[in-house]
Amino acid sequence: MLARTPRTLVTPSAWRIIARAHSSHAAPPSFAPSGVTSADTEIPYGDPACASSAYLPQKDGARTQTEEEKRAVSETPELTPEQRDVLEKIIRVDQAGELGANYIYYGQKAVFAAGSDKRTTGIVQAMWDGEKKHIAAFDKLITQHNVRPTALYPVWKAMAFGLGAGTALMGKRAAMACTEAVETVIGEHYNEQLKQLKADFPDHPSIPLLEKILTEFRDDELEHLDTAVANESQQAPAYALLSAVIAGGCRWAIKTTEKI
Ligand SMILES: [Fe+2]
Ligand SMILES: [Fe+2]
Repeated sequence: MLARTPRTLVTPSAWRIIARAHSSHAAPPSFAPSGVTSADTEIPYGDPACASSAYLPQKDGARTQTEEEKRAVSETPELTPEQRDVLEKIIRVDQAGELGANYIYYGQKAVFAAGSDKRTTGIVQAMWDGEKKHIAAFDKLITQHNVRPTALYPVWKAMAFGLGAGTALMGKRAAMACTEAVETVIGEHYNEQLKQLKADFPDHPSIPLLEKILTEFRDDELEHLDTAVANESQQAPAYALLSAVIAGGCRWAIKTTEKI
């Protein structure tokens, strides 16, 4: 039997402290009849309290945007080659990551919905609904900033669905350990990107909007992490090994997607 080893990832309690400082957008989205995202999911309505609503349909009709708000969602800034490289990597990786997250929850939901565990099915569905908002916003951002999407869409979709379904077949705790590992890496990654954007970018309204969206999504991911821990992720069989393998795979996928 494997001995449980201390976690090397950032602890959930540390994340919780960060998340609580920002989190004000926990309401699940409802869905607009406005087509589907690149992850084949419905496009959700935007929550007017959240930055991401700038890219999402509005339930009560679109409000009038200021000129600055229009520029923030329609223009891409003049950048140096180095800045452009950073922006492209951020948007390409995040869109691919959100695509993967959607397919992980899709795989988990498929397994749990086929069984009798309605409670876990509901928990997974609620987290998946959050990912639908994320991918819908990044689909818009990738177009606005003329960023080439990853060439690995089909690979990431298949691998993410397999990871979600595979861990769900191992049981609820393993599925939650998968969520905990993935969301820990994604939370760290969003924090890194926020540092890069704050460091050296021109004064164009699309950049502070992107920062707000990365912050919003980072906090959403940390709520998913909290949900996983609250649902016994750390009691999964071979928890330490499972976490390390999944987190390592996520980091490898991020590096690969930056280039391909
Ligand atoms: Fe996400
Ligand atoms: Fe998430």
